[in-house]
Amino acid sequence: MRVLGIETSCDETGIAIYDTEHGLLAHQLYSQVKLHADYGGVVPELASRDHVRKILPLISKALAEAKLSSADLDGIAYTAGPGLVGALLVGACVGRSMAFGLGIPALGVHHMEGHLLAPMLEDDVPEFPFIALLVSGGHSQLVAVEGIGRYQLLGESIDDAAGEAFDKTAKLMGLDYPGGPRLAAMAAQGRANQYQFPRPMTDRPGLDFSFSGLKTFAANTIAANSDDAQTRADIARAFQDAVVDTLVIKCRRALQQTGLKRLVVAGGVSANVELRAQLHQFADTIGGKVYFPRPAFCTDNGAMIAYAGAQRLLAGEYSDLSIITRPRWPLDQLPSVCC
Ligand code: KG4
Ligand code: ZN
Repeated sequence: MRVLGIETSCDETGIAIYDTEHGLLAHQLYSQVKLHADYGGVVPELASRDHVRKILPLISKALAEAKLSSADLDGIAYTAGPGLVGALLVGACVGRSMAFGLGIPALGVHHMEGHLLAPMLEDDVPEFPFIALLVSGGHSQLVAVEGIGRYQLLGESIDDAAGEAFDKTAKLMGLDYPGGPRLAAMAAQGRANQYQFPRPMTDRPGLDFSFSGLKTFAANTIAANSDDAQTRADIARAFQDAVVDTLVIKCRRALQQTGLKRLVVAGGVSANVELRAQLHQFADTIGGKVYFPRPAFCTDNGAMIAYAGAQRLLAGEYSDLSIITRPRWPLDQLPSVCC
């Protein structure tokens, strides 16, 4: 089954074609980073308009890359939520209408399920069951995964998501949008243990996160110190180390609690080099294994939506002709896919 995947939940137009027999056939991405940079963050209305401009040319490019025509498609999967409603509507309208025109099924996909399943696009595929750490700009969640659609939420952020904390702290440090990767690059120049940030909510049991205090701690540390490049890099390093340590501690707890040894990490923050290194090291110490998507598939992309949609379409799931988006959509409300 060949499935076109459409991702437009935020500031990336991602289009891909996934074949359930032959794997990923095409993957195109247009990032709106330049468009939003002047505003220091994503402007929802501008995001929707840019998706409208870019989506059809990008679909043509993906079809050309796969050497296919639209008549060769067997299904279309689009991100139906969570995300910015105007941006979601662009992908949903185009995806649903295109499928209607072609007489093939369409399916609205959960963006975080896309992230969660992204490691399945790699050669070394994680087997169920596993623990998933989902860390993006909008979500920080620990999920026990028994199969596709069999998700039990173990913990989540009670305030800022991990990516959001990176972005807000980067902004405080005067770094341009998108701040997360820039802050990480700055942290790479920083020295360890020059500043000691807290590891929020690790001193009590439970798997929830809280990252908003780190941003305040960073603001106070910046204000109390000189503004030279090395000091700034040291503060960035201390912030990143605190986020990474906290995530590692909670992953350890989740694995201990469930007795599982496999950990999947996905979402934009899973591109963070330090997080990847620390989680690999941790997994080695417990004789477990950690799986990440390749960096390009950590952040938003069409491939993960094509993959997740293909699994569900293959199982016979499809959406009706009404175009429905869900800006808020709990992951554990998804139907399970029987194997
Ligand atoms: O998954 P994603 O592309 O979009 C959402 O679904 O939110 O995640 C974007 C988030 C942003 O907050 C971005 O700053 C963060 O992921 N991010 C990173 C890195 N690359 C992206 N955070 C830390 N280190 C990185 N290398
Ligand atoms: Zn995302």
